Amino acid sequence: KADDGYRLWLKYDLLKDEQLRKTYASTISSIVYEGEKSPVIQSATEELQLGLKGLLGKEISLKHTNTTNLGSIILKKDNTEKLTNDEGYHIYRQGKNIIVSAKTDNGILYGSFALLRNIQTGQSLAKTDITSSPKIQYRMLNHWDNPNGTIERGYAGASLWKWFELPERLDPRYKDYARANASIGINCTVVNNVNASARFLTTEYLPKVQALANVFRPYGIRVFMSVNFAAPKILGGLSTSDPLDPKVRQWWIDKTKEIYAAIPDFGGFLVKANSEGEPGPQDYGRNHADGANMLAEALAPFQGTVIWRAFVYKADANGDRFKAAYEEFKPLDGQFKSNAIVQVKNGPIDFQPREPFSPLFGAMPKTPLVMEFQITQEYLGFSTNLVYLAPLFKECLDADTYANGAGSTVSKIVDGSINHYQKTAIAGVANTGSDRNWTGHFMSQANWYAFGRLAWDYTLSSELIADEWIKMTLTKDAVPVKIITNLLTGSRENYVNFTTPLGLHHLMGQGLHFGPHPWLEKSARPDWTATYYHRADANGIGFDRTKSGSNALAQYSPEVQKQWENPETCPLPYLLWFHHVAWNKKLSSGRILWDELCYRYYSGAESVQKMQNDWKSVKTSIDPEIFEDVSGRLLAQQREAIWWRDACVLYFQEFSKLPIPAPYQKPE
Ligand code: GCU
Repeated sequence: KADDGYRLWLKYDLLKDEQLRKTYASTISSIVYEGEKSPVIQSATEELQLGLKGLLGKEISLKHTNTTNLGSIILKKDNTEKLTNDEGYHIYRQGKNIIVSAKTDNGILYGSFALLRNIQTGQSLAKTDITSSPKIQYRMLNHWDNPNGTIERGYAGASLWKWFELPERLDPRYKDYARANASIGINCTVVNNVNASARFLTTEYLPKVQALANVFRPYGIRVFMSVNFAAPKILGGLSTSDPLDPKVRQWWIDKTKEIYAAIPDFGGFLVKANSEGEPGPQDYGRNHADGANMLAEALAPFQGTVIWRAFVYKADANGDRFKAAYEEFKPLDGQFKSNAIVQVKNGPIDFQPREPFSPLFGAMPKTPLVMEFQITQEYLGFSTNLVYLAPLFKECLDADTYANGAGSTVSKIVDGSINHYQKTAIAGVANTGSDRNWTGHFMSQANWYAFGRLAWDYTLSSELIADEWIKMTLTKDAVPVKIITNLLTGSRENYVNFTTPLGLHHLMGQGLHFGPHPWLEKSARPDWTATYYHRADANGIGFDRTKSGSNALAQYSPEVQKQWENPETCPLPYLLWFHHVAWNKKLSSGRILWDELCYRYYSGAESVQKMQNDWKSVKTSIDPEIFEDVSGRLLAQQREAIWWRDACVLYFQEFSKLPIPAPYQKPE
């Protein structure tokens, strides 16, 4: 039977390697749990039974006992385990048994999924001894889902949440969503769009959110909601939403109580305020901390958290949008209550194919900063382009901020190890939708997977994550696994090359953000045009962000400035982010800028042809339905890559007035 991609990486098909299967089957005869069967333990045992039955082709019985020598997989709650935190697990051999031990039920759930993953990927269990604990506390998906079932920047169909059927009907998919997330350690989900409809806080929608929370809870997942800052006015009938107004504060206190009565483990609020037209505290002359602290106060009695987004910028044709978040937020460091944390996009602009890390990381030592990545491919080719995002996530997490000297990586800011944050969090804007395969492009499932794995442990490599994912979802055949791993890990650089090489950014079409539009120079807002960002003229191209330009570079530590401030030594991937460079300037590659730009656009587009050849070469190892689906999308990607290449090269040539280098010129 053809695979439609619904089962994600939790496929559990019979292991083809008979020898391996027999070895596992002879080790595993039953599953034993101790103590009370909580809903989370129920999830763990159910998953193990389901997974092992599929993989090993035999029914594994479930037993309950207080004596530990009865079974083969023993789920053991053990307070004496030396684990970094409550969600960690320890899997080890004890005689004939495999012990999955943790301090909490959630730890046991994560350990059970890890054990299944080891079997799915063919690891030997003979000497298993694995300890693992998440490095970041809140590992969240952010859904940009609207009350009418649409998804902002969603490319995989309508919302997973069937609002009109909820709360009465529970789509079975909600549970599968929770299983998939738990399997990669995601423990929080924000169910609605940051451009938040106040409607979610009504008695019409709260029971719907409550119903989702009830399904997610047994999988260790807590629900958060995005809130509209003007809700006291919109819903409460108040004349203001001023965060310092006592009536407004009371409204939030009452509303929060109402939410916790329905969802006792509710996580808290995510807020986009005074950004892109959304209401916020600045409407009343207050600042972001005033707004966040009002909500923090309402959430505090319930240990809830307010996550305040730093994605802000103002229209200013002569300013530099790059600097906006830092300028507004850095002065507020130290003013946020302890349960108010600030969510920062990975880069200073907006989820571009490549951005330098946001200068806020490392600049707010007193405020926990949440990393916000985008898993949905708003600027990375929607669901027609194969772009594996782990290298993008890693590049940012591994970047050194030098905030506390060398080694102050963004990951160590986010995980709190440098500034000793009380709360730590990482968020990914979800790429899921109602498409049968969840993510539109089948290969984009790898991005959801990679986000979760890195949120749990950012030290994992992109290659290792790809290897796991491929073995669980596509094939275990050794050569194809290698070929597809390379295909995935190179795909992001290819995409950068045929869209925005050398540090170009924001060249995409207006509104939809689809396709190239580098000539866009008029828009409702000056900083939404492409010409604002690339600044191509007769002399050269690029945005001067050094002292002679906007000086945005000054927002970074001196060591980081040193890396990027000199156009002679600035690494080429970041060059045009920080410098306006002459067309005929000789670069470290030996080519002049214009030739290098052409080289990148042409080799990037050509790489899509290579991706297709690689994909064709693994055909016999791949399920036919998935093979055809990905093949078709690669063809679409090729068309788009050529479109990007030609649009950008021909447009920029109007300024450079230089010929396209000979190797790329096509015969007439
Ligand atoms: C981008 C995106 C918007 C989104 C915004 C945000 O600008 O295009 O749709 O609302 O980011 O993150 O708030």
